[in-house]
Amino acid sequence: MTRLGVNIDHIATLRQQRKEGQPNLADAARWAIAGGADNITMHLREDRRHIQDSDIFELRPLVNELNFECATASDIIDIAIQVTPEWACIVPEKRTELTTEGGLYLAGNNQHLQSTIQKLQDHGIQVSLFINPTPLDVEIAKSLNANGIELHTGTYALSPTPELELAAIKDCASLAADMALKVQAGHGLNYSNIIAISQIAQIEEVNIGHSIICRAVEVGLTTATQEMKRLLNPTNS
Ligand code: PXP
Repeated sequence: MTRLGVNIDHIATLRQQRKEGQPNLADAARWAIAGGADNITMHLREDRRHIQDSDIFELRPLVNELNFECATASDIIDIAIQVTPEWACIVPEKRTELTTEGGLYLAGNNQHLQSTIQKLQDHGIQVSLFINPTPLDVEIAKSLNANGIELHTGTYALSPTPELELAAIKDCASLAADMALKVQAGHGLNYSNIIAISQIAQIEEVNIGHSIICRAVEVGLTTATQEMKRLLNPTNS
C-alpha cells in the first residue's frame, strides 16, 4: 500500500486570482479526503502566493493528517508550531521560482536546518526533508535527525529516458528505509509516471498536486458546463 498525500496549493492559487473565497479550500480538502487522500499537503510560502496563514488554521481541524510544507523562515516555523501538523516537510524556497525546483542544498552548513528540525520535533511534529535522490543527501538527512525524507522526483518526471533517475530514486529509497527514515516521494508525479514509483516498496507515501488538480478539471468541466446550461435553459432539461 502506498499512501497518497494530496497537495491543494493549486486550488488556493486559483482562489487568489480573485481573492473572493472560490474555489473553497476546505471543500477541496474534503473532496480529496473523500477520494482517499491519506494526508492533505499545504505549502505556506514566504510570499503567500497561494496558501494563506488563515487556511492552515481553518483546515487543521478538518484534516486527520496534515503535511505542512515550508522553508525554515522563523515566522513560518512559528505557525507550524501553533498548528502542530503531523508532519512538516522542509523544502528550499526561492521567490522567483514557479514551483519548488529541487531538493534542499545540504552540502553546506546545516546548523540552522538542524535547529529548526529540533524545534519542530520538540513540539511533537515529525520532520521530513525534501532532498534530491543522492545517497549523500540521504545520509546527511539521517545525520540531521530527520524522521523522514521526501525524494524529489521532478527530474525523473521530466526526463525522456527516466531509467537512471528511477534507479537513483530506488537506491535512495532503499538506503533511507535501512536507516529507518520514512520515505516519501513527490514533484511532477502523474497518472503515467506514478506506476514505476508505486512499485518501489520502500516508498511509503507520495505527495501529488498538479496532475490531480489538472485531472479534476478534465473530469469535471463537462459536468460543470452542463449544470450551467441547465440553469440557463431549465425547460429543455
Ligand atoms: N512535494 C513537494 C515537496 C513539493 O514542493 C511539491 C510541489 O509543491 C509537491 C510534492 C507536489 O508537486 P506536484 O504539484 O508537481 O505534484
